[in-house]
Amino acid sequence: MKRLSGTIIGVLVALSASAAFTTTASAQKLTLYCSAQEDWCQLMARGFEEATGIDVDMTRKSSGETFAQIKAESANPKGDVWWGGTGDPHLQAAEENLTQPYISPMRSELQDWAINQATSANDKTIGIYSGALGYGFNTELLAANDLPVPTGWKDLTKPVYKGFVQMANPNSSGTAYTTLATMVQLFGEEEGFEFMKALHKNISNYTKSGSAPIKAAARGENVIGIVFMHDAVKQAVTGFPIQVVAPVEGTGFEIGSMSIIDGARNLESAKAFYDWALTAEVQSRALEVNAFQVPSNVNAETSPSAPDLASITLIDYDFKLYGSSAERRRLLEKWDNEVSILPQ
Ligand code: G6P
Repeated sequence: MKRLSGTIIGVLVALSASAAFTTTASAQKLTLYCSAQEDWCQLMARGFEEATGIDVDMTRKSSGETFAQIKAESANPKGDVWWGGTGDPHLQAAEENLTQPYISPMRSELQDWAINQATSANDKTIGIYSGALGYGFNTELLAANDLPVPTGWKDLTKPVYKGFVQMANPNSSGTAYTTLATMVQLFGEEEGFEFMKALHKNISNYTKSGSAPIKAAARGENVIGIVFMHDAVKQAVTGFPIQVVAPVEGTGFEIGSMSIIDGARNLESAKAFYDWALTAEVQSRALEVNAFQVPSNVNAETSPSAPDLASITLIDYDFKLYGSSAERRRLLEKWDNEVSILPQ
């Protein structure tokens, strides 16, 4: 009954969003900043246009980059909604008053972790999906280079993998910041930074976007990519020789989030998008683009290909701390000053 009424509310929200905007469609627009995968961002932008007639101007940038852009534009905000990307910079944006509170009627359909993300940020953000960090490797290149099969984080620091590992830069990428914060929580700060320094020796290239390392591995341009496991699964189901690893030591995870930008010029469109994006129907469409995150709407469809978070050893990731402005800034500065400058 709860599920059914939830679904009905979802449908009503979607319908009222369409109805409210059909008469004034030409006047309505939405500037969407998106930090999920490009194809999912496109699907969300075009899907909302089709559902409501509201024109969507969408830009895809990584989580840390989008945070920096919203901050730089704060005196004269240009964006309305920031959808997707890791939750930590969304929490930092909330703390810095770059985003504004909103309580969606869709809340009753969401998982507890999605609501917790909202309540810890005075309702200035909300969880839209979740996914665990890990890595993937190109099975053919691993064999061709005579490399052992890695199973844990610490394996990736072995000299044998020198030049064969990629991750993103934690300043631009939420995936890579999640990696840094995970190591600090998993191993303690000192050992976590020692791990990052040892890993640095093996990194061939820090990419800007979080999922780029596994896309490169799929194309045969890289062997091991540290990414969210669902991003590696996406390449594997597309037919690339990618094997996904849930590291034996345990791992961190993200609560991908959505926020309405403070000073949004198109606030009504922003709220309509927000409600629409939380419906089960819209979240289920992630599977059309092989986005295998865990959806925050309890009624949304999931795929058997998606990583099963219940079977992965997850740390008790402290989002409040690692999404706080001071801590995120401190860790990034420390990584810039103590890790990225080291010779490789
Ligand atoms: C990919 C993942 C998302 C994640 C995002 C972060 O798109 O599929 O789950 O939120 O990366 O992107 P970034 O480029 O900031 O690491």
